Amino acid sequence: MKTLDLHLQSKSLDYQILIGKDLLSQNKHFTPVIQGQQVFIVSNKTVAPLYLETLQASLKGYECSVFLLEDGEQHKSFASYQHILDAMLDAGLRRNATLIALGGGVVGDMAGFAAATYQRGIRFLQIPTTLLSQVDSSVGGKTAVNHPKGKNLIGAFHQPSRVITDINTLTTLPDREFKAGIAEIVKAAILYDVTFFEWLETNVSKILSHDEEILVTMIERSCAIKAEIVSLDEKETGVRAWLNLGHTFGHAIERSLGYGELLHGEAVAVGIAMAAEYAVKMFGLPSEDSVRIVRLIESFGLPINIQSEQYHINATILAEAMTLDKKNVDADLTLVLPKSIGEVTIKHSVKVQDVERFLVGYLDMNIV
Ligand SMILES: NC(=O)c1ccc[n+]([C@@H]2O[C@H](COP(=O)([O-])OP(=O)(O)OC[C@H]3O[C@@H](n4cnc5c(N)ncnc54)[C@H](O)[C@@H]3O)[C@@H](O)[C@H]2O)c1
Repeated sequence: MKTLDLHLQSKSLDYQILIGKDLLSQNKHFTPVIQGQQVFIVSNKTVAPLYLETLQASLKGYECSVFLLEDGEQHKSFASYQHILDAMLDAGLRRNATLIALGGGVVGDMAGFAAATYQRGIRFLQIPTTLLSQVDSSVGGKTAVNHPKGKNLIGAFHQPSRVITDINTLTTLPDREFKAGIAEIVKAAILYDVTFFEWLETNVSKILSHDEEILVTMIERSCAIKAEIVSLDEKETGVRAWLNLGHTFGHAIERSLGYGELLHGEAVAVGIAMAAEYAVKMFGLPSEDSVRIVRLIESFGLPINIQSEQYHINATILAEAMTLDKKNVDADLTLVLPKSIGEVTIKHSVKVQDVERFLVGYLDMNIV
């Protein structure tokens, strides 16, 4: 097992991320961070049949209540959030209760928001069960629900007391979801760590065959990069924006195609490839770096382009969708672009017309 210490500006909020095998079945990983006697578990109807029993066995002796969400991003809603709070009130949870989120990013974000707001905030533990949630959403303390006007518009920063990542959970994760998580890992390497990028290049087949030691190392390095960036910028006023590499293109793809067509990680994979090519064309990224980035994404079986005809979208629609990005600071676009492998830069005031012109050529390449 590997343990990562996450240091935040307020020392009292520091916490650990444990990464390893069979962690869920070991009571010793939970007891030091559970407060009081009451534990409230939030999971969903897909994950609970797989892992809830093991978790509950590790929590013997505590007064446990469980709430199961319907599965799916469409249930990351106000209605579900209220149902969680209703169940917490019905269970008579006191302020010293502990909430445990068992599931992917949807469960983690929503349960985290419930923990952040129930009686002005109670303790919470994350047990992320998708690769994406293990390397991304469980690190950094962002919690949220969606609003009909957009994703994650309502939320709070609320750091967990511990993240327990049991890689056994990846054995039941659909392959497509596993690969979608890899997109965020490739992103972390591009923006921060050329050595890790090279390590990924070397270990593609071991990663895809779920070599346990390799998975633990990969998840740890990826979390460490996010943790380092978050600890520099907890509330997202500066360098945390680096984590948006590929996301302005990616979010625009998700929005234009309709949510659910591509998984978030798949849209991010395309977005990273686009950002790399755009950086070559406009800002002098060496083309051999872009080639390596695109090749690595492809070697994990992730897409690098979209079939614009199939989805009836074009460069104008995509560029228009990019103007809606929350991270833009003026009428132009803000883009995070690779400067080299291991380093990114934030470009403000990027003209929408320039990006649109670039996208016309990119979408035409017909590589998917
Ligand atoms: N808070 C953050 O910083 C942050 C960062 C990135 C993404 N997010 C959020 O995360 C969400 C996406 O998370 P996700 O990709 O984990 O999606 P998800 O939570 O919807 O999980 C994907 C699917 O896998 C299933 N699943 C989960 N674990 C499983 C397992 N071990 N075995 C079998 N099936 C399993 C889920 O039930 C679901 O059907 C989005 O809502 C996004 O906004 C948040």
